Amino acid sequence: MNAAVRAVTRGALARGWEVFGVRNGYAGLLGDLFEPLAARNVGGIVQSGGTVLGSARCPEFAEPAGRQQALSNLRKRGIDALVVIGGNGSQSGSASLAREGFGVVGVPSTIDNDLYGNDVSIGCDTAINITLEAIDRLRTTASSHQRAFAVETMGRDCGYIALMAGIAGGAEVIALPESEITPAQLAERLRDAYRRGKTHALAVIAEGAKCGVHELMEYYSANRAAIGYDLRVTRLGHVVRGGAPGAADRVLATRLGAAAIDALAAGKRGVLVGIVKNDVVTTPLAEIAGRTRPADASLLELARVMAI
Ligand code: F6P
Repeated sequence: MNAAVRAVTRGALARGWEVFGVRNGYAGLLGDLFEPLAARNVGGIVQSGGTVLGSARCPEFAEPAGRQQALSNLRKRGIDALVVIGGNGSQSGSASLAREGFGVVGVPSTIDNDLYGNDVSIGCDTAINITLEAIDRLRTTASSHQRAFAVETMGRDCGYIALMAGIAGGAEVIALPESEITPAQLAERLRDAYRRGKTHALAVIAEGAKCGVHELMEYYSANRAAIGYDLRVTRLGHVVRGGAPGAADRVLATRLGAAAIDALAAGKRGVLVGIVKNDVVTTPLAEIAGRTRPADASLLELARVMAI
């Protein structure tokens, strides 16, 4: 997100505009927490994860009174337009502000990669690589000790991180919210790897999958012989959201942040900027609100064939 904050700030300053950062997302809009941003204020942040501006979940913003407070703060300060960097919750908020007549452009930033109107969101590639590093490390013990490991990674209701990390990490089985699998079926896939003489087996499980690590462990406790291997579980949780962003994310955030300023300069309002098939596109926020973009579960077959 920092690379996007930097790109928005410097892209706007380059056009001679004045820029303010809002602290803690919508909470700062409500609380009137604005601070002027100059080029040097966003120096040295491109390599840091998270956001120097701070972020917060803000349920008050979902209420009309909260939004009126935010709008009145924006107008009082003479702000012409707002760039909202965030995922589905943030962009639903942008759509509400756009409906109420304020000029907003959204920038897709969520490790979940579930935003409609954009192929890959800021943060997602780094989260995939952190998950992949964990898979690679777990394989060491799995192979030496002839064990199975189930790794749970984040993604809310979208299996994109699990799917990509699972394919890249050579997982024996991947469980996604987009494609249901029962604990018995998952255990059978691990058992199958055991029968084929594999020294280890890895299951990558998206946090939103119905068959989560909890369900799998329950099944394993009641059917210890069902897998062949000993089974261990690792939940990565917020680890996948931390650390330094990779090059792909820094470049993506820079392109999208600059694209948001270009969109505003072209007179566009009420849109999300995105990159679709490597082209910068804009999609009306009204089309995005309430929609999600699922992971492509047809790739599970590719993962299955590669695990033979
Ligand atoms: O939307 C990003 C995300 O990291 C999801 O993958 C995860 O389910 C959720 O946020 C965790 O939210 P919190 O940090 O509020 O616990």
